Amino acid sequence: MLSLIVRVIARKTLNFDSFFRGTIFKRHLILGIETSCDDTGCAVLDFDGTILGESLYSQHLFHLMNGGIIPPLARDLHRMHIETVVHQAVKESGLCFNDLSAISVTTEPGLPMSLSIGTKYGKYLCRHYKKPFIPIHHMKAHALTARMVKRDLEFPYLVLLVSGGHCLLAIAKSADDFLLLGEVIDNAPGEIMDKIARRLKLKNLREYSVLSGGRAMEVAASKADNPLEFEFATPLMHYRNCNFSFAGLHNKVTRTIITEEKKYNVAPDQVLPSVNNICAGFLLSITRHLCHRIQRAMEFIDARNLILPQHRILVMSGGVACNNIIPQGIEIICNEFGYKLVRPPPKLCTDNGVMIAWNGVERWKAKVGVLQNFDHVDYNKCSPIGESIIEEVTQANLKCKWIKLDKFLNLITNGENQKAVV
Ligand SMILES: *[C@@H]1O[C@H](CO)[C@@H](O)[C@H](O)[C@H]1NC(C)=O
Repeated sequence: MLSLIVRVIARKTLNFDSFFRGTIFKRHLILGIETSCDDTGCAVLDFDGTILGESLYSQHLFHLMNGGIIPPLARDLHRMHIETVVHQAVKESGLCFNDLSAISVTTEPGLPMSLSIGTKYGKYLCRHYKKPFIPIHHMKAHALTARMVKRDLEFPYLVLLVSGGHCLLAIAKSADDFLLLGEVIDNAPGEIMDKIARRLKLKNLREYSVLSGGRAMEVAASKADNPLEFEFATPLMHYRNCNFSFAGLHNKVTRTIITEEKKYNVAPDQVLPSVNNICAGFLLSITRHLCHRIQRAMEFIDARNLILPQHRILVMSGGVACNNIIPQGIEIICNEFGYKLVRPPPKLCTDNGVMIAWNGVERWKAKVGVLQNFDHVDYNKCSPIGESIIEEVTQANLKCKWIKLDKFLNLITNGENQKAVV
């Protein structure tokens, strides 16, 4: 009891914890800053991946009101909040800036205006406190967070990154080395989900009013009484590569919505009676497309012996990985090929400061990209995750026999998916 009181007082007055954490044991500590899109995130991590402090400011509601992200607004909100967010994370950790070993910051890829705020602020902190600067690739950070959650996860492994800005399949070979198997050629699935949710006016229904488009879509789909009422063709069925495309699907769903609106003669603010079935059909098509690409990637990996059968892992991350319906289809493909599906918890799948700090830890340990001199470092809108072997995948010309998703269909047609929605 006494020691507890002493600890509390010490924490308040002498900052005892930080004294032990940082100074005496010389623990390595990394601060991470994320501002690549619409979340201002920060975290302090030690080398074991223990989160000592974290803070996140989400702009989600602003952009929901505006019907999408407006880059200058996103930049201004980052600028307004970055200092508070960073100081909150550091305060929560009980440490001070001088205890840090280095500061890692997302510099690519992302919205340039958003990236500029984190990059500038991170550099300012590094100069002020004389710390090394670790520039972070946002997608690599997403792909590597799984190693913080699952400590025995070894390279190489397969990664599917799906969000509002990205969709790609890659093999993670090391903290810095990735092979790109396929990527989206038009719009990312999260972006299309948001657009369809907006087109369906889901926001007008009270229970969805503050949910992201993707989340509203998932809940609506889970209420479908006939998920097969609207069947949308699976994109790129006949292309023997691992690229993704969602723009065609977007058009098809939009046309269906227009037809349905005419049929029911809905008022401008009214939501279609068939909304749940449309959402289910749409999600089903997305799931099928992702499953096809994953299956081809797995068959290509088999043909080239790229990942040993003993430790086959598929990591799924990015905002769309928070969806609870899609992964159930992907799980079927994984089971068939002897892969284990690993999804970080939702708060680590969406953008956050923790993954940036963790990538800083990985880079510090691997001694790559820890910069004492960082004046030349700039932020980049586009930056490939690694070497592209998309051509090789195409040339392999694998004729896949698609694994049936009957179990997945049963799940969503029996209304059992209600259970799946947490
Ligand atoms: C796959 O996508 C990449 C990047 O958009 C593109 O350069 C490439 O031509 C596409 N490959 C195929 C076979 O469609």
